[in-house]
Amino acid sequence: MTRPLIAGNWKMYKTPSEAEEFALELKKVTTYNDRDVLVCPPFPALACVRKILDGTNIYIGAQNVYPAKEGAYTGEVSPVMLKDAGVHYVICGHSERRQIFGETDDFISKKVKIVVEYGMIPILCIGETLQQNEAGETFKVVEQQLREGLKDISGVEITNVVIAYEPVWAIGTGKNATPQQAQIVHAFIRKTLKEMFGDVAADIRILYGGSVKPENIDELMAEIDINGVLVGGASLKIDSFSRIIGFNKVRSLM
Ligand code: PGA
Repeated sequence: MTRPLIAGNWKMYKTPSEAEEFALELKKVTTYNDRDVLVCPPFPALACVRKILDGTNIYIGAQNVYPAKEGAYTGEVSPVMLKDAGVHYVICGHSERRQIFGETDDFISKKVKIVVEYGMIPILCIGETLQQNEAGETFKVVEQQLREGLKDISGVEITNVVIAYEPVWAIGTGKNATPQQAQIVHAFIRKTLKEMFGDVAADIRILYGGSVKPENIDELMAEIDINGVLVGGASLKIDSFSRIIGFNKVRSLM
């Protein structure tokens, strides 16, 4: 059984003071020890969020990294800096990075590799656009992003990698993939991981992302190959994020 991971991607929202306030609230409501919780604040808020969440079971993640130890890369942030800032997870290849900033599978594979090398856990994001979905290319796109993104990862390193399936048409649109639709793609991802890395594929966490909300979390988490979620919009408000973190628990009380 893989330990579920509930991750919040705050994107370019929350100033350090707002993040601090949120972290204080989050600390109060996160009392579970059978699941991992992660928040990925913008870079300027990493330090203050870490200070508040230190010693809790809530992890800190970064939304991006540059694949070099250090150097003349104005505006970029290195894995060494993230590690030193207390970061455990790094989101790599989010669809917004692919679409807005032109990140390629090859560039993303370098990020995934360096994050593992520095002892952190990459969350490799993959997923098809609406156009690709409508053209029936979902499996083809997902497989290519997976194989390319993980091309330098060894059979040992893969145990420290998380995959997030995020159909682009479901991100920030309020239109989520149904749990059944997501499960079909997750099962395909697991099958591909098995071809690439063998039996260890059963233990790799595959998250779903794209309009995850309190209304659909229990159903999503009930699917066998959905091992957690990557939440954007609904991770910005304490009520919705705490309900998502509390999946199953709340349901079992009903
Ligand atoms: P959303 O974003 O939950 O707002 O759809 C998900 C993501 O981009 O990771």
